[in-house]
Amino acid sequence: MSPSPRDSALVHAARREPAAHTPVWFMRQAGRSLPEYRALRAGTQMLQACRRPDLVTEITLQPVRRHGVDAAIFFSDIVVPLHAIGVDLDIVPGVGPVIARPIRSRADLSQLRDLTAADVPDITESVRLLTAELGATPLIGFAGAPFTLASYLVEGGPSKNHEHTKALMHGDPALWHDLCAQLAQISGAFLRVQAQAGASVVQLFDSWVGHLSRADYTTYVAEHSARALGAVADLDIPRIHFGVGTGELLPLMGAAGAEVVGVDYRVSLTDAVARLGGEYAVQGNLDPALLFAPWEALERRVREIVAEGQAAPGHIFNLGHGVLPDTDPDVLTRVVDLVHEISAR
Ligand code: CP3
Repeated sequence: MSPSPRDSALVHAARREPAAHTPVWFMRQAGRSLPEYRALRAGTQMLQACRRPDLVTEITLQPVRRHGVDAAIFFSDIVVPLHAIGVDLDIVPGVGPVIARPIRSRADLSQLRDLTAADVPDITESVRLLTAELGATPLIGFAGAPFTLASYLVEGGPSKNHEHTKALMHGDPALWHDLCAQLAQISGAFLRVQAQAGASVVQLFDSWVGHLSRADYTTYVAEHSARALGAVADLDIPRIHFGVGTGELLPLMGAAGAEVVGVDYRVSLTDAVARLGGEYAVQGNLDPALLFAPWEALERRVREIVAEGQAAPGHIFNLGHGVLPDTDPDVLTRVVDLVHEISAR
């Protein structure tokens, strides 16, 4: 029998089983740091690109071929499922998702409805094409978590302070919970479509949830993220739960229903493992800015992270957040080679 993604270092590490080496991939590995990505994307809007299986397949494969990473991350965006149910939005280059009519009142909720597989046949097709090409290399499917999606919908676009989101959360908790319950269905269904089409791992991105206290996370967010993650609980695939600035929230994010907790660069893996009580695998946590440092400094830090990760029940090497657009792709390849070399068992 030919090897399958189930036998890969990434899936072993995520399941807290011994892995042949520390697996490595990079958030935003597919994208603007690659000249071959920019060439392929020229003349096509981001949202259109995300809905074309030929482009999605090729863009997802580019970093796997170039860097030899241990996983592919599905090329899409957290707002694709919202767009697929008809929310009027755009992804503006250099800005991010922009929503035509922000959600601030109960009447605005009518912009949302449940997502079904029939809304995204192209996603199923893209995942099938990809998994056929990838062979034993796992594909990571993903979705945005309810809080992060709610922030874009309520603010109307990217936000530094999330003031409208927090005002709604505290000012009209019933509306907040209804909004997040709807978003949890959408996120969960989007994860499930990818998992059923062949993704071997899923990641829930709650990028901006680090702006909340533990108390607010518990009261306003945890149950909805748990529902999104719960949508694939019966499929027996590892779930990664990631956010930025979430040092205080790590155990709560694990308890929401993940096997792997993403750690950004503000908390060391050693501290993260201690906070998580040794129960979860961890993913992270190189500062993406360090990819611009001289190789000696970068190498030292990579070695420290790999060593710290060896004390975790499972470790997936990654950045603390996404690849910055001006990153030299050759440095990423060199980091992959180094991680593999120093962690081979
Ligand atoms: O390689 C990968 O990680 C796969 C694809 C991926 C994209 N977006 C492609 C993309 C993933 C996993 C995402 C998730 C995403 N999208 C998140 C969560 C991850 C994170 O970074 O915290 C968030 C918050 C978004 C929303 C979003 N979409 C932002 C903030 C941006 C950047 C805006 C900009 O231009 O600076 C986007 C657009 C986007 N999504 C791009 C890519 C490759 C850039 C679009 C382009 O190339 O024109």
